[in-house]
Amino acid sequence: TDAVAFTGEHQAGIVTPAQDRLHFVAFDVITKDRDRLVQLLKDWTAAAARMTQGRDAGEIGAVAGIPEAPPDDTGEAIGLPAAALTLTIGFGPSLFRRFGLGARQPAALAPLPKFTGDTLDASLCDGDIAIQACANDPQVAVHAIRNLARIGMGVVSVRWSQLGFGRTSSTSTGQATPRNLFGFKDGTRNLKAEEPDLLREHLWVQPGDGPDWMTGGSYLVTRKIRMLVETWDRSPLAEQEMIIGRTKGIGAPVGMADEFDDVDFTSVGADGEPLLAPVAHVRLAHPDTNNGARMLRRGYNFVDGSDGLGRLNAGLFFIAYQRDPRTAFIPVQRSLSGRDELNEYIRHVSSALFACPPGLSGPSDFWGKALF
Ligand code: HEM
Repeated sequence: TDAVAFTGEHQAGIVTPAQDRLHFVAFDVITKDRDRLVQLLKDWTAAAARMTQGRDAGEIGAVAGIPEAPPDDTGEAIGLPAAALTLTIGFGPSLFRRFGLGARQPAALAPLPKFTGDTLDASLCDGDIAIQACANDPQVAVHAIRNLARIGMGVVSVRWSQLGFGRTSSTSTGQATPRNLFGFKDGTRNLKAEEPDLLREHLWVQPGDGPDWMTGGSYLVTRKIRMLVETWDRSPLAEQEMIIGRTKGIGAPVGMADEFDDVDFTSVGADGEPLLAPVAHVRLAHPDTNNGARMLRRGYNFVDGSDGLGRLNAGLFFIAYQRDPRTAFIPVQRSLSGRDELNEYIRHVSSALFACPPGLSGPSDFWGKALF
């Protein structure tokens, strides 16, 4: 079948080969009652376990219940397969200010700093709890988030949510590298599921890193990045390739032949200038420029219609998982936000950070159990 296991050492939806579609949601907790929140986490876990296996959200299902009551599933996924649905939960810094959780907040979960050029919309930022739904069918992903929101009524409210189509990263060597909306291959030099040593070093929280409840988990950074595609489309091919630092066709690093060749930092052209521009994205984002920093990128393209000014409201919903954002996303984004030539063509409009605990051990475990 096309179902992804819901339990395991790590949460699914991180190194799982990136699916084609995304529905990401951030919730605010609106109850002050800790028991109600814990009950919701149990109810969510049960529903998520069912939906990821291609079943209805509730035990009875969309159409088998009594006519006098609202169904325990909304019905739009009837007849659809599991479509590799994964549901991945994370907890935001703001959650730890309540419910007596203060002492359990990892130091790595400090709110992200402001970066040069940020144009964030506060209503699209942060959140107490995030759930990432990825699937190969958009209706399956939306169905999952819709039902989780329905189950959470009165306990949580949707703060913001984002649809994505077209993965912009490969997370497995078995996947071809997809392209982002600037037309470039994205995810070439990503962490991949087949690299266990690198995943231990850069992706999964290790014993002793912080509170035990996060061991085996990972920190999730999301950034909604608007891409000014009309401006980009008017820039010459050579300039586009200079800005990214790779060729548009094959995706080879500037000066190299193949996609997976190493980035060449040092070669100079006939004019004595480095072939790879000092402001090229792959130079500024590269581990060698950032103390070895690496993360697992898992973003999606989005087009949220148009903006009323004749432009597509399009971009990249950037998703990155890492062992510690203080030595991964934060330094890399500092490097990019100061100098990256790409900044002329993009605007960061939303930002969030979540702690994603390890996977569930079995049927008696539930999302957040080790935290509450
Ligand atoms: C690499 C595009 C934002 C981190 C790349 C590549 C492209 C790209 C085309 C080369 C292929 C690859 O190795 O994956 C974009 C676009 C962005 C964006 C269009 C914004 C709309 C970001 C942000 C970060 C980031 C916000 C993190 C702060 C990286 C990293 C690499 C990379 C770490 C790999 C560098 C290497 O190891 O060679 N990006 N990117 N990117 N990007 Fe971005």
